Amino acid sequence: MQPLLINSRVRAIYILFIAGIMAFRTIVTILLLSIAISTGNGAILEPLVNLLLNTDKPVSDLHKSRVLNFTELSGLHGFTTEEHTVTTDDGYVITIFRMRRGDCDECTGRPVLLMQGLYQGPEAWLDAGPDAGLAYLLANECRDVWVGSQRGTVHARKHVNLDPDRDAEFWQFSVDEIGFYDIPATIDYILKCTETEKLNYVGFSQGVGTFVVMCSERPGYCDKVNMFIALAPATRLYKTKSVMFRAVFESFYALEETLSSAGVNEVFARGGFLQGPLAQMCESPAKAQALCGSAYGLIDSFHAGSVTNETVRLIASHFPAGTSAHNLARYGQGLLTENFQKFDYGKDKNVAMYGTEQPPVYNVSAVTAPCAIFYGLNDHIVDPVDVFWFRDRLPNLKEATPIAVPQWNHFDMIHSKDIKPVVFDKFFHYI
Ligand SMILES: *[C@@H]1O[C@H](CO)[C@@H](O)[C@H](O)[C@H]1NC(C)=O
Ligand SMILES: *[C@@H]1O[C@H](CO)[C@@H](O)[C@H](O)[C@H]1NC(C)=O
Ligand SMILES: *[C@@H]1O[C@H](CO)[C@@H](O)[C@H](O)[C@H]1NC(C)=O
Repeated sequence: MQPLLINSRVRAIYILFIAGIMAFRTIVTILLLSIAISTGNGAILEPLVNLLLNTDKPVSDLHKSRVLNFTELSGLHGFTTEEHTVTTDDGYVITIFRMRRGDCDECTGRPVLLMQGLYQGPEAWLDAGPDAGLAYLLANECRDVWVGSQRGTVHARKHVNLDPDRDAEFWQFSVDEIGFYDIPATIDYILKCTETEKLNYVGFSQGVGTFVVMCSERPGYCDKVNMFIALAPATRLYKTKSVMFRAVFESFYALEETLSSAGVNEVFARGGFLQGPLAQMCESPAKAQALCGSAYGLIDSFHAGSVTNETVRLIASHFPAGTSAHNLARYGQGLLTENFQKFDYGKDKNVAMYGTEQPPVYNVSAVTAPCAIFYGLNDHIVDPVDVFWFRDRLPNLKEATPIAVPQWNHFDMIHSKDIKPVVFDKFFHYI
């Protein structure tokens, strides 16, 4: 009997192993598919989704009924938000948000600009709810809170000449252009509007990388920043542990031309075809925590109990908020280099674009604004080793501190229910 038992165990392990690989590949394929579909016509799949969800409502309606924008969400909790429009030097039209607590007569301190990460809309700073969302926490202190947007996301899908639905050229951007154009234009707008000389900047993930691009490429802009708070800073990403993140982004790097010739330039758009069904699936608390929570854990790392069910539900209703396939290809490249550098077009085009065969490396020493870094020890997207690489190049570092909770991961920085004691209270004194 013994050999048979071992045999069946081995077989079970083998089957589990294969199932694991298949599940992983299926998830990646579904992600890629959803991307392609989100920009094209998803109607062919609608009957299938309706069958799965046991509903006959149009899929797009499932989504609309669940999405509230920044102004509406903050309004639910008694905050007043103004919407402002910034136009960049290269013609992108970006909506940014200014939020105040209703009963603060005068704002105190310098304006604070929050800049979120890849795929995220400004709503990301509200997801954790009024007791933990950083926009709420700052506004509660009667700060003048501004929340930016990056080109290509839901509130910045507009251009003075180009049509994002028809002109592929609109989507020819990555963190390189966001840092060069969007962040400086946003800072100038806020300083002019508030008649001040400097503001405080809080960046999360890509919101840090784009700030570095700005300081490196736009002399003088770093001087307009009083204090730079860098949360889970995404600059160099050479040591990224997340298998999912690598799989998806390296596929984009490999497939960029194919996708582009198939007309896929915009990816992970908000309101994309799959968002309705996803939002619906993540709706009920039990399912929300189990299913949607683990999905985020797969991309990042697991931290049980950190993100509430309500936050998961909110995230599912509006994340992701869109970007370009080119930007993801840029991330795919970034994972393979030991530097933080511009897009690598290959020797010939590099010479034409940059005058050198290798893409230029960003100058982190140009980040002269005082900087405080906070990072998670369990962040599988921005590995602590990459954080140290960044830290060691900063000329005006105030501190680089790991969050005191060992399981703290990448998205905890913006989504955890514990942000106030372990993040906000640690940096607020700087600003
Ligand atoms: C957000 O919603 C409000 C209320 O529905 C609307 O007036 C506003 O234009 C929306 N803002 C954006 C940027 O979509
Ligand atoms: C989420 O909801 C489930 C089921 O209702 C519950 O068991 C769990 O404790 C909730 N999790 C959190 C973090 O609130
Ligand atoms: C990087 O920036 C610093 C500070 O502005 C400057 O002194 C240095 O020359 C720059 N390095 C390069 C390689 O451009």
